[in-house]
Amino acid sequence: MERHFDDYKAIVNKHLLDFIPVIDNKSISLYDAMKYSLTAGGKRLRPVLLLAACDFAGGDIKEALPYAIAIEYIHTYSLIHDDLPAMDNDDLRRGLPTNHKVYGEALAILAGDGLLNTAFEAMTKDMMMYFDDPAKITKRVKAAYEIAKGAGVKGMVAGQVSDMESEESDISNEMLFYIHLNKTGALIKAAIKAGLYLGDPDREMIERMDAYAENLGLSFQIADDILDVVGSAEELGKNVGQDAKDKKSTYTSINGLDKAYETLDEISDKALNAISDYYDNAEFFAKLINDLKNRTK
Ligand code: IPE
Ligand code: IPE
Ligand code: MG
Ligand code: MG
Ligand code: MG
Repeated sequence: MERHFDDYKAIVNKHLLDFIPVIDNKSISLYDAMKYSLTAGGKRLRPVLLLAACDFAGGDIKEALPYAIAIEYIHTYSLIHDDLPAMDNDDLRRGLPTNHKVYGEALAILAGDGLLNTAFEAMTKDMMMYFDDPAKITKRVKAAYEIAKGAGVKGMVAGQVSDMESEESDISNEMLFYIHLNKTGALIKAAIKAGLYLGDPDREMIERMDAYAENLGLSFQIADDILDVVGSAEELGKNVGQDAKDKKSTYTSINGLDKAYETLDEISDKALNAISDYYDNAEFFAKLINDLKNRTK
């Protein structure tokens, strides 16, 4: 059965809270704060990518669920922290007041910490069921490693640091590329690679999807930068014009809107070219690129 974005998204939403531990009544506020940002909405791009990549590589998506949900926990934590006054200082996210606006800064920080750790709890708990199956445990360790690496200090966290340090400064396109690749691209790439590893990919598939993922990640952040200029809060569920307010170095602030659209076309074509001539069952990934471009129109 051919699955589409919304099919995967429905699976993610159905199981979204499955890995949140039952919390005793002394930490209800932590549970509430974690659940608040998770269930507020969101496109679920990363877990959907993970499940789709697993499908594409011939895996069983039911077995990939702990990893898919874990990556959404990590992404959600990154948004809670990204919105904090010390970072981007935003007050609207996923159509609702940001976590710290509702729960206060201290609990928002801890809710983010909670989500990050729960992600690793979910993945390692799953691994513990397969100690006697070397092939299955290998796939899982590889998937979790990709996720840890992508989210970590050579990935998303590094990108966030450079994003922050590039406020109010004139940076090169090379630096901007580095920021995009890390703050956004790394977790997107991790989602795809983890999904592939949970299936049975050959080396060529890993290489082609790696190129696809890298260009998807870059396109996604260029589109995000464009939407901050041309989008609306109703559509995006977050306030627009925030990048200018924070004096961020974005694709549009550095290169202008026309060039941003042009580069979005070029880079998304690169993503398409990495796969489209080689696979006749990669429509999910091709359609995603077109939908991403259409969001900015
Ligand atoms: C927002 O990510 C942060 C970026 C990396 C640009 P998304 O645009 O995927 O946010 P949600 O998950 O749909 O809320
Ligand atoms: C956020 O980038 C990247 C991460 C959360 C890691 P942005 O700061 O551009 O995301 P938005 O625009 O607030 O969603
Ligand atoms: Mg930010
Ligand atoms: Mg932000
Ligand atoms: Mg943004």
